[in-house]
Amino acid sequence: MTGTIPVRVREITALAPTLKRFAFEPAHGGAFPTAPAGGHVMLTLRDGARVMKNAYSLVSPPGARGRYEIIVRKVAQSRGGSAFLHAHVAAGDVLEMAPPVSLFPLAATARKHVLIAGGIGITPMLSFLAELQARGARFELHHLSSPEEVPVFERLLAPYAVDADIRVHGGGRAAFDLAGLLSRQPLGSHVYTCGPHSLMDAVGTTALALGWPRGSVHKESFGAAAGGLPFKAVLTRSGMEVMVGENQTLLEAIEAAGVAARCLCRGGACGECVTRVEEGEVDHRDDFLSDAEKAAGALIMPCVSRARGPRLVLDL
Ligand code: FES
Repeated sequence: MTGTIPVRVREITALAPTLKRFAFEPAHGGAFPTAPAGGHVMLTLRDGARVMKNAYSLVSPPGARGRYEIIVRKVAQSRGGSAFLHAHVAAGDVLEMAPPVSLFPLAATARKHVLIAGGIGITPMLSFLAELQARGARFELHHLSSPEEVPVFERLLAPYAVDADIRVHGGGRAAFDLAGLLSRQPLGSHVYTCGPHSLMDAVGTTALALGWPRGSVHKESFGAAAGGLPFKAVLTRSGMEVMVGENQTLLEAIEAAGVAARCLCRGGACGECVTRVEEGEVDHRDDFLSDAEKAAGALIMPCVSRARGPRLVLDL
């Protein structure tokens, strides 16, 4: 994606040992573009010659133009972006940010909005809460947390908890009655989920099993692609061969080689990075391609998917 905005880190707040909130302001004054509810931005982080791109949901209220905020979890297996932000970025630093994009909008016609988040998946829900409360819309939010982080998320949600059904659950997935929650919602409700893939899959399959229309189930997926065996990618139009490491995505390897590749979500959801496969078998890990397209093996989403063998030849 081209076109980035220089942003200055205005403030960093530690929320928990692995959670930090970063507030940004336009580096050269003026105002940011208006961000939609559920919108995300992409940060480009440079560590010497190494370039990392990470997508983060904006947690600042939609429409706020003087300040954007994100919350970043430092994960043990981070491929670099979140660990770099936690360890090396300080107030006053200037970073590159792609303007906000919304791939996770609130449904305009929903009779009620049911928000289900797990862990750091709470972030897009925070901007939803601000929007839903401003609209006076009917909603409830359920957040699944580890027991030790319940107070952290309760503090985070405290500003929204007026006249709203907002709950943090620390008792584990088994104690959360997902089917009961979804089965008591009025006709015309929409459900939105963000968090671990197992939670998002459970929300989707439970809702569909209960007869929710497919179009009433929404999920937000960000770059949680696990690694895999290393392989070689041959980029025919660029005339290059790229090695993809075991803890690196194909997209990251392509970018590191200096080849421009389109992307928006970096999580296998938006379709922006779709690339034609000329040779090789694909290990599909995205939520964008249909089962038939995956079976045909002619397309790949390099942000999450990998080779199932030692080599892939791509039209790139
Ligand atoms: S960047 Fe969105 S699917 Fe790859």
